[in-house]
Amino acid sequence: MCGIIGYAGHRPAVPVIVEGLKRLEYRGYDSAGVAFIQHKAMHVIRAEGKLSELECRLNGCEVFHATTGLGHTRWATHGLPVERNAHPHRDPGGRLVLVHNGIIENYLPLKEQLLKKGRTFQSETDSEVLVQLIAELWTPDISLLQAFSEALKHVDGTYAVALLNMDDPNRIWAARKSSPLLLGVGVGENFVASDIPAFLGYTRDVVFLEDNELVELSPMDWQVYDTATLEPLEKEIHHITWDFQAAQKGGYRHFMLKEIFEQPTVISNCLAGRLDAKNRTVSLPELDNLDIPEQLQIVACGTSYHAGLWGQYLLESWAGIPVRVEIASEFRYRSPIFKPTDMILAISQSGETADTLAGMRLAKEHGVPVLGLCNVVGSSVAREAASVIHTQAGPEISVASTKAMCSQLVLLTLLALYWGRRKQTLPQHVESSVIAGLLSLPQILESELPRMRSTAQELIPEYSTARSFFYLGRGLAFPLALEGALKLKEISYIHAEGYAAGEMKHGPIALIEPEFPTFALALNDELLSKTISNLVEVQARNGKIISLCHPGFGLDVEHAWEIPQVYGPLNTFLALPALQLFAYEMAVYLGKDVDQPRNLAKSVTVE
Ligand code: G6P
Repeated sequence: MCGIIGYAGHRPAVPVIVEGLKRLEYRGYDSAGVAFIQHKAMHVIRAEGKLSELECRLNGCEVFHATTGLGHTRWATHGLPVERNAHPHRDPGGRLVLVHNGIIENYLPLKEQLLKKGRTFQSETDSEVLVQLIAELWTPDISLLQAFSEALKHVDGTYAVALLNMDDPNRIWAARKSSPLLLGVGVGENFVASDIPAFLGYTRDVVFLEDNELVELSPMDWQVYDTATLEPLEKEIHHITWDFQAAQKGGYRHFMLKEIFEQPTVISNCLAGRLDAKNRTVSLPELDNLDIPEQLQIVACGTSYHAGLWGQYLLESWAGIPVRVEIASEFRYRSPIFKPTDMILAISQSGETADTLAGMRLAKEHGVPVLGLCNVVGSSVAREAASVIHTQAGPEISVASTKAMCSQLVLLTLLALYWGRRKQTLPQHVESSVIAGLLSLPQILESELPRMRSTAQELIPEYSTARSFFYLGRGLAFPLALEGALKLKEISYIHAEGYAAGEMKHGPIALIEPEFPTFALALNDELLSKTISNLVEVQARNGKIISLCHPGFGLDVEHAWEIPQVYGPLNTFLALPALQLFAYEMAVYLGKDVDQPRNLAKSVTVE
């Protein structure tokens, strides 16, 4: 993972870079560092731990006037998260420094070759090998651009990398292969970064760099090349319409809370332009030219995987399409059986998750069309899919995904309606009811969210000493149970198991005791009586239960958490924020770092 930024402009570079790193910190926060050239000397300042540690270190330094520099925030892959492994890394001659996101897979043989040539290493990282390799290949008769290109030819693995040269202090070179990298084009200033929010405060004009492209930038100029041939390439500038405010906390204590509360708007944004003029049918013009698959294979990770599991229910029942949902890291190394009439649906908030990308590439190799469901415009999933549905959640900064899942579920609902109508498997009255229900959701959710938060706050003290939780659900509530458990684990570090309520009796029920509470999704659907039977089994073993339920829920449990009932599957959109808020308030109560939970990163661009 890791986040990188490079700035070449007219402003003092260090504050611009640190501000950019703050917006990239979701990508990793094990250590951070900056590099710049001032008074003809290369300065590299790094600190172990979160960005605030680096800021403290920078505050103790003189004021820096350099107007070009690099920055990095790290999620450790090779080498402990300590200062010597923090980026930027430099070559021992001190002329070059480099920041890197990705993994140089053949770093050990490359390192051996460099050691034989007498080079010494300061860190255990794969990234230091790359800067040393560039330095080794940079002989007096070739330019740094050529040496950079040459070095990248020797590298196996993934990288978004940026380079600074002491002899040319206002220029940056950067390249990408399978790790995200964008060029931000400003007026008298240019940026490279792992993600748009890093420079959104300065420019919204963006060039999406492709794999095997290299860019050279200075304050007034930029040029993209083919990495291997160094042939100049024409690139299009895209104007991003995101609001800078969307990437700010906007008065909320945490991004996660803000993003949970944004869900009513997210639902409205996802529906905007996706319904016909009279709001009777779904319109997904990006799919009009694609054949309806005979079988759909959904490939995703984490929360996006749970969204896929949820979508399976609707796609099968409304559109009559057999659906398999696959964890991307498993799918990519199996020998999945593809038929030409299949379709892959890659679901990814970031569009950069390495396993999801590998899964979709595998399908492409077999000639199977890939549809992307993705939040980040211009991301790898968006660019590599045959067609893409954008989820319109806006930038999601909190590591624990919330509003992105909400947006994925809206789009999966629309997709099931759209294919169901095209296949004529869906009665018109269902489509009308779902659309009417979706349109009314934002308002209902908006008024309900504050109450949900209060309920979560009231419940937490009693449950905060639990070391483990069950989350149980059936049908559409089963993926929600998985997601509720994942949220609790991710941010409060309480062990939680999401389980299909009916499967509990096949083993996990052995764990039930008074100190092992159950969070039950007991919504009023056709499976409620079955879920209740399972909850009675929990009670018979003295298990405490919180039931997320609708008015009229019959079972006497420790805490019945009532939410309003809406149309059928749309009840999900009220249950999901309750689960998110429960995890959020638990993490806050336990004093955990909500937006940056330990060991995690938002965008997992490594295997
Ligand atoms: C990481 C994040 C999760 C996310 C998963 C998949 O593990 O911490 O929140 O669900 O990656 O990410 P994607 O961007 O592909 O949806």
